[in-house]
Amino acid sequence: MAKALYPGTFDPITLGHIDIIERALHLFDEVTIAIATSASKKPIFTLEERIEQVERIFEGNKNVKAIGFTGLVVDLAKEQESNILIRGLRAVSDFEYEFQLANMNRAMSPDLESIFLTPKAKFSFLSSTLVREIASMGGEIDSFVDPIVKEALQKRFKT
Ligand code: COA
Repeated sequence: MAKALYPGTFDPITLGHIDIIERALHLFDEVTIAIATSASKKPIFTLEERIEQVERIFEGNKNVKAIGFTGLVVDLAKEQESNILIRGLRAVSDFEYEFQLANMNRAMSPDLESIFLTPKAKFSFLSSTLVREIASMGGEIDSFVDPIVKEALQKRFKT
């Protein structure tokens, strides 16, 4: 069974991430959303909250799993017995960072393959940071996030 890991911070998961997950499901039997603690990014949602949001969005889809992790993604891949990492490429500007990440991961774990998928053009400008900023100022976020995330953001920012 082909099993892929999709690592990221997902603070919060956006429709752009969901678009990538749906594309990955056309290629792999199972996609595990691996949610990094990413303490240096100071996420507004706890790891548990981010896991719960993803689980609720994909409730009923047994081919999508959500797990949290701290530490190296290469170690997680070994633990999960998967040698495929999915990453989204929104624009050329993502490429340099992703290229660096993929090559560092390959240096540590030569059998690990990074696969890049591109989201729909309408999500190419989307980022979790922008969504958080718009939500914190009471802006409209319906076209960027699932209603579950919208509710969580509104609760967090009391808008
Ligand atoms: N739609 C919308 N937004 C997207 C997106 C898409 N399809 N793809 C990426 N993004 C955004 C994210 O929202 C995020 O925005 P933000 O910076 O405003 O929060 C940004 O692009 C990139 O973030 P993300 O995809 O979550 O990755 P990341 O850079 O936060 O996390 C890890 C990268 C977690 C995979 C990486 O740090 C990692 O592997 N960490 C584990 C430790 C490790 O192994 N380190 C060594 C690596 S060589």
